[in-house]
Amino acid sequence: MPHTPETNSAPEASHYSHPAIVLHWLVAVAMVANVALILSVEHIPEDWIRPAIDTHKSLGITVLGLALLRLLWRIGHRPPPLPSAYPRWETVSAHAVHGLLYVVIFWMPLSGWLHDSAWSEAATHPMQLFGTIGWPRIGLIENLPPSTKEPLHDLFGALHRWGGYVLYGLVFLHIAGALKHQFFDREAVLRRMWFSRR
Ligand code: HEM
Repeated sequence: MPHTPETNSAPEASHYSHPAIVLHWLVAVAMVANVALILSVEHIPEDWIRPAIDTHKSLGITVLGLALLRLLWRIGHRPPPLPSAYPRWETVSAHAVHGLLYVVIFWMPLSGWLHDSAWSEAATHPMQLFGTIGWPRIGLIENLPPSTKEPLHDLFGALHRWGGYVLYGLVFLHIAGALKHQFFDREAVLRRMWFSRR
């Protein structure tokens, strides 16, 4: 089937591979859902708080697995180059935001896991992924004496929270950039990250 450009600019026929697209959207949806879930904790009935936090942990660990798959796929498969029409500052900023998003995609689950492993009640509240399979705490942290664990719990909690703020900023820049190219510059960039018949 001929490739029909949807905009008035030169067609950029390059697309991400299907596994990269699936992993991109799975990670995106899971992270947004996980943030929404944890922010909802202040507004839900008392009885739901513990299950909500447990689900947050399970979804976060799932993101860690997906992020690992994504990174491995990315190492073996170069993404399509950014459209050649981009000025240099936009190419550099897009690469910087993508690189930082990779860091945050790993940082959020890892800092959450570290924070949870330093929790004083970790031993009496074993972690189970979605209430089924047991998931370990990080032994190196969990086995520290309480006097060392307590400040670490606060530190990792703060790093997790600040990671969230960085995530919000990066997601904003990422979406704003994509929308600018799609609708303002009229380059069909969104379909690079969607399925196409090739
Ligand atoms: C997709 C990955 C994750 C994202 C985007 C994420 C995001 C967040 C955010 C935004 C908060 C609220 C921070 C605040 O403002 O106070 C939070 C809290 C928290 N997260 Fe995560 N998180 C992720 C993964 C994890 C994982 C894997 C764990 C543990 C295994 C975890 C454990 C926690 C805990 C215990 C809290 C504090 C909950 C509370 O007591 O209110 N998170 N997370």
